[in-house]
Amino acid sequence: MRRKLVAGNWKMHGNLVENEQLLNAIVTSLDELRNAQFAVCVPFPYLPSVQSALKPTNIIWGAQNVSQYEKGAYTGEVSASMLNDFGCTFVIVGHSERRSLFGEDNHTVAQKYIAAQRAGLMPILCVGETLEQREAGTTEQIIKEQLAAVINVAGVESVGKAVIAYEPVWAIGTGKTASPQQAQDVHAFIRSGIEAQNINIARELTILYGGSVKANNASELFAMPDIDGGLIGGASLIADDFIAICRALSN
Ligand code: 13P
Repeated sequence: MRRKLVAGNWKMHGNLVENEQLLNAIVTSLDELRNAQFAVCVPFPYLPSVQSALKPTNIIWGAQNVSQYEKGAYTGEVSASMLNDFGCTFVIVGHSERRSLFGEDNHTVAQKYIAAQRAGLMPILCVGETLEQREAGTTEQIIKEQLAAVINVAGVESVGKAVIAYEPVWAIGTGKTASPQQAQDVHAFIRSGIEAQNINIARELTILYGGSVKANNASELFAMPDIDGGLIGGASLIADDFIAICRALSN
């Protein structure tokens, strides 16, 4: 059975008071949902408090970035083993904001993915095309390159310990969601690419959709056969919206 997952990506939002309110509301409502997994990926400084709040619950947590290096003189970086110290299950790697705003290329993303897995974390590997790339008809080529950059160095077996998130750049934070069919087409493309290398891993692979998932469009996206859940930005900061999205998957 494929893992069904909704993960919130808080990005650089929140403070101690707001986080506590948000988590209290989420915990109360999500504790009864059993047939899917729910997670929040939070800014580094909040990991200890999120860990304390979520440890007794069925909600899991993770970070939004990780260093590709194990340890050393890398001022400002956070290693995978440090994330492990705070009970993280997941770490997002290759988010388009990291790629476009912080210059992370496919090579760096692959190194981060490997560093995460080496420490026992499950990377949520983000891939996705820009609007220009979609309009130029190169979506599949871009996704293929982004995946190959990781699989060629980490091996296809590593995908068995990862989650892939398809996040079209043009849909992130824009309110413009990919249509369920547009998303399904890319998800099926991703799965078939993995299937060509390892059929069992492809079948078990959780592929999330991310990009303006809201309470009112989650159900139709999650109804598609190759969409196994969502990576949620803005709506993960609003308790009622996040809960509704989680319920849409759990139904
Ligand atoms: P939005 O849900 O705000 O569009 O963000 C999606 C995203 O980037 C999740 O990683």
